[in-house]
Amino acid sequence: MKFFIDTANLDQIREAQELGVLDGVTTNPSLMAKEGITGRDNILKHYVDICNIVDGDVSAEVIATDFDGMVKEGEQLAELHDQIVVKIPMIKEGVRAIKYFSDNEIRTNCTLVFSAGQALLAAKAGATYVSPFIGRLDDISTDGLNLIAEIRLIYDNYGFETEILAASIRHTMHVLECAKIGADVMTGPLSSIEGLLKHPLTDIGLEKFLADYKKGN
Ligand code: G3P
Repeated sequence: MKFFIDTANLDQIREAQELGVLDGVTTNPSLMAKEGITGRDNILKHYVDICNIVDGDVSAEVIATDFDGMVKEGEQLAELHDQIVVKIPMIKEGVRAIKYFSDNEIRTNCTLVFSAGQALLAAKAGATYVSPFIGRLDDISTDGLNLIAEIRLIYDNYGFETEILAASIRHTMHVLECAKIGADVMTGPLSSIEGLLKHPLTDIGLEKFLADYKKGN
């Protein structure tokens, strides 16, 4: 399972990278705005800064919503760095753009996916990644994890190579459940990854080991 961090915050990206288990970064326009990154040039520079910190894939989202605009913007994003994956929304023009990029060997992440049908379409168009937003489904009393399971089943039925990138992860149990279902990738806050290492028996055990060592040394 690949671990991506879902942020545009360079300090957090560095911290996750230093942990040694980071495989990539996802961003979106809201995450960019949260870090105060505005203006096309600054945004493009920020993507390059992120690529220079991490070793893996970095999703960069298009703003255009028409086919020509998405193609132009996506090609510009892909030119920035070979780690860039062009993030395209699940809309009709977006499906066309994903197909275009797939034919031209530019990798894509189909975002804002909330149903198995949308995920099937993204895979048919040749998306590299599909991003079902599980947290936002949970927010409206719909089982986000069930969507991951449905997509896994469909992709396995037909051998689609599109990777399931479980997005809008809010906490550590989301990560664990996605791992059990077989999501290829998770993207969430650093806290959702760090939560995996916590166990009180580890802390108690370590404390005792160190105390016993001190007694004899
Ligand atoms: O990766 C998708 C993510 O950015 C959305 O997360 O927490 O805003 O639903 P959230």
